[in-house]
Amino acid sequence: MSNIDEFFERVISVKLPEDRQTVDILEQTLLPGTIKRINLRTKEELWDAIKKLKVRGAPAIGVSAAYGIAVLANRIEASDFDSFYKEFKELKDYLASSRPTAVNLFWALNRMDDKALSLKNESLDKIKELLFEEAQKIRDEDVAISRSIGELGFGLLKELKKEGKEVGILTHCNAGTIATAKYGTATAPMYTALENGWAGTDMHVYCDETRPLLQGARLTSFELHNAGITTTLQCDNMASMLMKQGKIDIVFVGCDRVAKNGDSANKIGTSGLAILAKHYGIPFYICAPSSTIDLNTARGDDIPIEMRDPEEVTTMWYKERMAPEGIDAFNPAFDFAEHELITGIITEKGIAHAPFDKAFEELGIGK
Ligand code: MRU
Repeated sequence: MSNIDEFFERVISVKLPEDRQTVDILEQTLLPGTIKRINLRTKEELWDAIKKLKVRGAPAIGVSAAYGIAVLANRIEASDFDSFYKEFKELKDYLASSRPTAVNLFWALNRMDDKALSLKNESLDKIKELLFEEAQKIRDEDVAISRSIGELGFGLLKELKKEGKEVGILTHCNAGTIATAKYGTATAPMYTALENGWAGTDMHVYCDETRPLLQGARLTSFELHNAGITTTLQCDNMASMLMKQGKIDIVFVGCDRVAKNGDSANKIGTSGLAILAKHYGIPFYICAPSSTIDLNTARGDDIPIEMRDPEEVTTMWYKERMAPEGIDAFNPAFDFAEHELITGIITEKGIAHAPFDKAFEELGIGK
């Protein structure tokens, strides 16, 4: 096993233990200081882990919800399909209420729901077994999807490398291995480059710290640094300086939901980064599994944006409160980059360019 594979093994975001009684997650709020796994047994523990970002990142949330509903459904004691399904639906709606923006949560739960309905004439034991199988498929497909995103993104990096110098990549938040089942989305091109022999002088990744929850500082720089990729961490407000100095050749970010017109919601700060990239003429790519593309949402303004506790801005991470008591604090967890600012959306089926709705159709997304 290579070093990078060993690292991937150590930080697997979500697993289903052999006894299938719990969902095993990497507790991401403890990173980078502590690498610890926890087992989520009850529906409340699952909900709370998603809400509090113990497991986070759109694809990883989807995989945990899929495993979670399979574990919970396995415990339903019912004598017929209708009473089983009534309880299943209640569990599904409960898990779906944990976070509003990442469409992968609803996508994975709906896929599990469709599976249950398609099996209504089977025995409950068989349904429960096949729900585990479906959740495992969702997880395995995610590995293959990020692999394909990685190959396509690496193609772009190779083009930039032709110019001879180190390729400077900027990323925001964490769309890495711990946000998915394996390679990440925004990080997949970087890991693919590594697997293809790129070394320290071939690429240099600049990670935005990502206020207020510091996913870039705590998670992305932890991942990339451990993987042996040359990594620099900067505060979010330093990105324009790096761009102005010519250090950034390309921006790769993940996303939580892409609307039909290509507007792409991702961690707060993504919209500003896209505007800066446009200003400096730097290609700006969204990396997204096709399950993140929501053709039922017409434009970015229709994407529900999660608002989080103001304490994350005023107090969290500080030894003492850093804002006056009683101050109003604005804390949206996401924003969206307008489609006009996006160079391309890298999906496992190909790279979509504007007009995005047409490109999604041509790539067979949503079929
Ligand atoms: O609030 P988070 O940490 O779940 O936000 C995560 C992001 O914004 C990621 O960029 C996105 O989910 C894509 S993960 C492959």
